[in-house]
Amino acid sequence: MEVAGLDNNQIKVKSLKAGSTPIREKDLDKLLKAGLASHRLAFTTNYKDLVGAELFFLAVGTPSLTSGRIDLSQIKSATDALAAVIEHTDGYPIVVVKSTVVPGTARDLKKRLETLSAKKAGVDFGVCSNPEFLREGSAIHDTLHPDRIVLGVEDARTSRVMKDFCKRFYGKNTPEIVETDHSTAELVKYASNAFLATKVSFTNLMARICEKLPQSNIDEVAHAMGLDPRIGGLFLEAGPGFGGSCFPKDVQALVTYAEGLGVDSSFLRAVQKINETQPNHVLSLSKDSLGELTGKVVAVLGVSFKPGTDDIRESRAIKLIEVLLRDGARPRIYDPNALENAKEILGSSVTYCKSALQCIFGAEMVVIMNAEPEFKKLKPEDFLRLMKQPVVIDTRRMYRPDEFDGKIRLISVGRSGQVQ
Ligand code: UGA
Repeated sequence: MEVAGLDNNQIKVKSLKAGSTPIREKDLDKLLKAGLASHRLAFTTNYKDLVGAELFFLAVGTPSLTSGRIDLSQIKSATDALAAVIEHTDGYPIVVVKSTVVPGTARDLKKRLETLSAKKAGVDFGVCSNPEFLREGSAIHDTLHPDRIVLGVEDARTSRVMKDFCKRFYGKNTPEIVETDHSTAELVKYASNAFLATKVSFTNLMARICEKLPQSNIDEVAHAMGLDPRIGGLFLEAGPGFGGSCFPKDVQALVTYAEGLGVDSSFLRAVQKINETQPNHVLSLSKDSLGELTGKVVAVLGVSFKPGTDDIRESRAIKLIEVLLRDGARPRIYDPNALENAKEILGSSVTYCKSALQCIFGAEMVVIMNAEPEFKKLKPEDFLRLMKQPVVIDTRRMYRPDEFDGKIRLISVGRSGQVQ
């Protein structure tokens, strides 16, 4: 197979051509370099270079608008530019929609392509909805080992070509291919993300209950629940809530879309409410020991939306830092990957630190937001030695209470018996 990647951002294309990835993603550099070296991978900003391709994967962003709807402007302009390519491409080119889009979008794009290319869908070209389920941080692994492939196809030739392509790409590891219409495929993506987000908010709700019970621990509750195969053990990890460029945006888009259809979405709104209030809830756990936050030096460890990434989009840590600033605290922050991105949002309102140890120095409270393996290396004596007042909020339960002696106040999200 030969692959050409197109982006309208010249800087990104230039850097990709030079073998450098504009995002941080495990194994991506290696894969990019191998692709370039094989001369079967190229990058361009010019749509004309795509004429003659057999498959066109549309993977542009669909960010949120303030109304909660998704912004389809990028996918519409990319489709319009592709129409000219389709017009000049012989054979049966197929446009594959990878971007996360609400039901009905692929059908609209198909009409747009027909009008602009003067060709007929199902006769001269095909359209396939093929939602993406990869996670940031394990994108390459997830792409190469999918649990399922969803193909929203509405003509026999597109169905055949796409299934052949998947079988050629995945060989004997081809997972179950679910073939359906466009709208169902589009909804599968939202339903999947909304369900996973629901699991996280549900667990955080149970965690709040655990905090009020004597000797209760959310991890034990989640573990025991997860042993039931009907529930499943994944995405039951309590913490500061879900962030990232997908869950918050997709739950909101689904709420807006469903309500537009007249479907009551209070269930999903409850999922959002738990998530939105979780950073405040985390801070409220310290009220007994720390009192008001005004003037207090608070160290925040972990700024990205999850460990191992520099992505801070919708990160709960950023929300927490905003609450700290609003309440007059003086945040010191550290993250092994995400500080450059954090600077763009937080500017000079916080102190940036070069290490976890430097970050906790002089702090009156430490809040651990991410389960970065590096944070686990901090020893109780580090907190005692370096902090002004050793109050530690551990949102990911990285430390066991018995690791800390009575001199440190360890407050773990989802655990009772907060006082040591
Ligand atoms: C998510 C989905 O997991 C992917 O399947 C999907 O393809 C992707 O969105 C997308 O739509 O593009 P991602 O946003 O990379 O992937 O991140 P996740 O690993 O799912 O984590 C999302 C958030 O939930 C993070 O903030 C994470 O810390 C939080 N989380 C996750 C928990 O708090 N507890 C858990 O048990 C699991």
